[in-house]
Amino acid sequence: MRLILLGPPGAGKGTQAQRLMDAYNIVQLSTGDMLRAAVAAGTEVGLRARAVMEAGDLVSDDIVVGIISDRVDEPDCKNGFILDGFPRTLAQAEALELMLTEKKLRLDAVIEMQVDDGLLIDRVTGRYTCANCGAGYHDKNLKPKVDGVCDNCGRTEFSRRADDNAETVASRLQAYHEQTAPLLPFYRAKGNLQTVDGMADIDDVTKAMRTLLGVG
Ligand code: AP5
Ligand code: MG
Repeated sequence: MRLILLGPPGAGKGTQAQRLMDAYNIVQLSTGDMLRAAVAAGTEVGLRARAVMEAGDLVSDDIVVGIISDRVDEPDCKNGFILDGFPRTLAQAEALELMLTEKKLRLDAVIEMQVDDGLLIDRVTGRYTCANCGAGYHDKNLKPKVDGVCDNCGRTEFSRRADDNAETVASRLQAYHEQTAPLLPFYRAKGNLQTVDGMADIDDVTKAMRTLLGVG
């Protein structure tokens, strides 16, 4: 199973990708996570990407296409993958088509997660993760069972993304509408675009995705 999750910042791409990974035994390929890892490690890609990400702009197509092309060749992608945050421009979508054709791989579905802009700012600015295990939380929507303690690993240190502030989120949303939304008609014309209501409860979004992907 190979699929793309398309949606604006805070739509729930990462949240749902984690759940679908378990259902299909496939991996999540998040270009955002990969770029943040490169920034943290201080690699050449990280040095080029850092300021762009903090401004809420898109990193250049050649960087992200190169990252994904190398990553899908790794053994853990053999069973399939969920593209989370890639492609994000028409040039990336076209490069992906070419890449999949060359690697003789087929795309099974493109799922658009629809969420109104007004909800997204709150979702993104309220988000935080466990600094130890990466489990995701939200100030209002998804609190740990015991305040300040990670449900998953019991640690008490949390972190927030450098780009999760109101000003940067506005730029990220603008980038989405200008550069990523044109992918919707692109995939609709190819006949593999499906849409879910990303404003439903997290569990209901998972159910809707599993239904349309045929895993009940
Ligand atoms: P990236 O990391 O991809 O960020 P993004 O697209 O802005 O999306 P987010 O990760 O913020 O949101 P999400 O949809 O994963 O939502 P989540 O599940 O966390 O990219 C970051 C940056 O990297 C970009 O700005 C760009 O600079 C660069 N970049 C990355 N890929 C690139 C590419 N291909 N090309 C160029 N540049 C690239 O959910 C958010 C919050 O809402 C959580 O707290 C969650 O608990 C909550 N939530 C989720 N679902 C629900 C629900 N149904 N109801 C209530 N709350 C919910
Ligand atoms: Mg994400």
